[in-house]
Amino acid sequence: MFDLTQLTTLKLPFYAASVLKLSSIDNVCVSMPELGTAPRLILGGGSNLVVLEPEFDGVVLRPEIKFFEVKEIGTDIFLEVGAGHQWHETVMQSLEHGWFGLENLALIPGWMGAAPVQNIGAYGVELKDHCHRVKLYDFAEQAVIELDASELNFGYRHSVLKETPERFLVLTVTLRLSTEPNPRIGYGAVAEEIDRKGLSPSNPRDIAKAVMSIRQSKLPDPSVVPNVGSFFKNPMVGKEIAERLKANFPQMPTYPAGSQTKLAAAWLIDHLGLKGYKVGGFSVHDRQALVLTNDGTGNADDLREIVALIRSSIKATFGLSLAVEPTRLGELKLT
Ligand code: EPU
Repeated sequence: MFDLTQLTTLKLPFYAASVLKLSSIDNVCVSMPELGTAPRLILGGGSNLVVLEPEFDGVVLRPEIKFFEVKEIGTDIFLEVGAGHQWHETVMQSLEHGWFGLENLALIPGWMGAAPVQNIGAYGVELKDHCHRVKLYDFAEQAVIELDASELNFGYRHSVLKETPERFLVLTVTLRLSTEPNPRIGYGAVAEEIDRKGLSPSNPRDIAKAVMSIRQSKLPDPSVVPNVGSFFKNPMVGKEIAERLKANFPQMPTYPAGSQTKLAAAWLIDHLGLKGYKVGGFSVHDRQALVLTNDGTGNADDLREIVALIRSSIKATFGLSLAVEPTRLGELKLT
């Protein structure tokens, strides 16, 4: 078996029967029909995957497709990027070119191909705000297809690609950017950081600097401390539930989200005093309670135990069920 443990940022043991590097769209079209019915797993940057069963008896696909094409129409920039590019590098390259839009999404780990799958988002911006179209390999039709953003059913950390993970492989993503800055600094922490550092709120490169600085101060670097970013989704609740909770916990942050209210899972976990809580090699991060870190010795059972403890504590105090955010291989055995 191939040892792929180092290819995931959580560093739980991971062995696969075979690994297939996909370097181009042509390569995908030729090799995918030959896979037959073998179980498949797509692995890009490995920064949002939790491996709970160490042995995968199938083929791990590595979409290392490199492609970079720009179309300029007036002030609109349509940038088509291969699935194998690092997300953050694309953000920085686009800013260097003066193509704006991705600045709030700086320093998110992972590859381009994963970005539309879970509609990555941070500091008030989501991929969906700048996704124009995706090119996919459709395993059911054994063909390359394109879907417009409107067909992707984007939601909070959600897309049609997440609904049917067996069906598609992302080949390229076309981003819609602009040569005109459209600064979004509504997220309090970003405005504060810009102010604190004497940066310009209207300069997208400065916004990226502020975002990077916030992320570096709160989130552990996955290349140094094993983690998968936020381990839970922020709960979405109806207004009634939000108001009832707010009456009991007046300090609790709430964010309007259409007809619903988004709560801050990090605040809920923090409020229970769980920051720094440890089970075996896993801990609740001491600067961001939504992140679970592995000290390198953690195993799947430690992770199951700490997740169960957090979820049952949140249920007991707030009556809420926390949903796990990253993709899993194997079961967390949630009750
Ligand atoms: N908070 C606490 N204690 C903590 C951390 C945060 O009380 O330990 C409070 C903060 O003061 C704030 C609220 O909780 O009032 C929200 O915290 P934060 O702004 O850090 O964001 P988050 O909701 O915890 C989400 C995303 C992050 C993204 C940030 C910034 C999800 C699941 N997570 O976290 O995404 O970077 O917002 O936009 O939506 C990821 O997906 O891996 C990820 C890191």
